Amino acid sequence: MKISTLLVFILILTFSVFASVQKSPSEGSNRLADRHLSEHGSSCADCHSTDAPSSAPETEKCLDCHGSYEDLAALTANPEEEINPHASHYGPLPCNNCHKSHEKSVLLCDQCHNFAIKVP
Ligand code: HEC
Ligand code: HEC
Ligand code: HEC
Ligand code: HEC
Repeated sequence: MKISTLLVFILILTFSVFASVQKSPSEGSNRLADRHLSEHGSSCADCHSTDAPSSAPETEKCLDCHGSYEDLAALTANPEEEINPHASHYGPLPCNNCHKSHEKSVLLCDQCHNFAIKVP
């Protein structure tokens, strides 16, 4: 194989790998914001109050649709789980401490604990 042919081949390969990682929201990259857009019928503005956001939304925005912290705690009061993430010795926390919208979510609690529970 000539060097130039090889280079083109490598370029195509690199591009296709890149393209498969860079999914648009409508294709769903399984991030929370994408699921709100494609599965939960929300728009950017439902969270951000604007179609051209430049900063993170307030926790109040999430609560507009999801009810109170007590409502959330009732939803996740599962006796089979070792914790209720919405009712702890930390009281009500900003959603974004755990639920990231455009990146992978984290469990704030695991800074100190080691709970086997996934954050959607
Ligand atoms: C315009 C209304 C609306 C807003 C604003 C909103 N949500 Fe939702 N969300 C929904 C609906 C509808 C569902 C699907 C039904 C359900 O699970 O409650 C959902 C589902 C979820 C789920 C579980 C399902 C999944 O796909 O993981 C989480 C977690 C969640 N929302 C967190 C948030 C957070 C955090 C915010 C603020 C950054 C937020 N939501 C803002 C309407 C909204
Ligand atoms: C300490 C971390 C943490 C914080 C803070 C947090 N959550 Fe959650 N949330 C979780 C975890 C973990 C789950 C998954 C629970 C499970 O699988 O039983 C969850 C589940 C949910 C669900 C899905 C509930 C269901 O079973 O249908 C919604 C909706 C949700 N959270 C919304 C919110 C909103 C809105 C806020 C802010 C007001 C918030 N959460 C704050 C950790 C958190
Ligand atoms: C479920 C609510 C939700 C939806 C829907 C959503 N976002 Fe976000 N967005 C957030 C949250 C929460 C953050 C803070 C960072 C994070 O959690 O990933 C954020 C951060 C951002 C930021 C970065 C701000 C900063 O701090 O640098 C931009 C830009 C942005 N969003 C644009 C958008 C656009 C454009 C859309 C629609 C295609 C959208 N968002 C849909 C909740 C949402
Ligand atoms: C900064 C560190 C820290 C963070 C973050 C933290 N905890 Fe804790 N947690 C502790 C300490 C310290 C104790 C008391 C130690 C003990 O008695 O075992 C404790 C105790 C607990 C207990 C009681 C344990 C028992 O065996 O009775 C639960 C349940 C708990 N935490 C849940 C949570 C949840 C849920 C979160 C996230 C919302 C969280 N923790 C975040 C430090 C932390």
